[in-house]
Amino acid sequence: MAETTFDNAPIGVFDSGFGGLTVAREIIKALPHENIIYFGDTKRCPYGPRDQKEVQSFVLEIGQWLVDKNVKMIVIACNTATAAGLVAAQQTFSIPVIGVVEPGARAAVRATRNRHVGVIATKGTVESGIYTKAIRNIDAGITVFSTATPRFVEIAELGIRMARGPIENYTSLASKVYIRPEFQEIAQDYLDPLRRCDIDTLVLGCTHFPLLKALIGGVIGSRVTLINSAEEVAKDCTDLLTRRGSLADPNQTPYHHFYTTGENLDEFRDFGARVLRFPMDFLEQVTL
Ligand code: DGL
Repeated sequence: MAETTFDNAPIGVFDSGFGGLTVAREIIKALPHENIIYFGDTKRCPYGPRDQKEVQSFVLEIGQWLVDKNVKMIVIACNTATAAGLVAAQQTFSIPVIGVVEPGARAAVRATRNRHVGVIATKGTVESGIYTKAIRNIDAGITVFSTATPRFVEIAELGIRMARGPIENYTSLASKVYIRPEFQEIAQDYLDPLRRCDIDTLVLGCTHFPLLKALIGGVIGSRVTLINSAEEVAKDCTDLLTRRGSLADPNQTPYHHFYTTGENLDEFRDFGARVLRFPMDFLEQVTL
């Protein structure tokens, strides 16, 4: 019988800031023995309104930084960065690179019954048309309705700054602390047109948005299934590493190292712990 091989090199995960931690926490849940290096490009966040070429250059720069850290695979835990740079990263690096769009598209196709799917994302992601392409590549009979909802990124960040404890608690409609009428109005302005399109499935096409799940779900209604690609991405990581015989040794004690280009380490540590639901023991600032 062939001997089992292990690869304890870390998985590299990155995002424009802390949004990708919603993906990192699912990877950690699915693969608790893996070492993780997370990179949050807080200094240059948001990526959403930036030019695609510029975001692509960030993807290649951060990808190279992770390769230099000897990661065994890269997860682009940002939809905007996936849209702008996944192809270039796959063509540049010799290790596997996966993004968050294709897994989210797959989950949406599985979930829809009436084949009307909504997508909310940043301006960059919506303008790239990447979700429409990914969904219709699987089922060309699905109609996709996409809307850029940039203010949701602001709301998620504000919620994090305003509250203590798990972030989701403060972004629910039940929370008096956080959901002020104006937030609900913004959500209604964004989501009412999608409701009128009779969607039964809504892709949260930005890694910040799972933090607003309760707000978005409350406004769009319980008949619409919300898709968070993070769990699907974690499954893809598991499949990929299993197929390549590159899983970490289950007997090792894993580490989770976090890096940010932002200047306020205390803030990143505090936000991060509340998204991850465990403390960020190792956090360093990086200048690219
Ligand atoms: N987390 C990013 C994404 O998934 C959005 C935030 C940004 O605009 O940088 O698209």
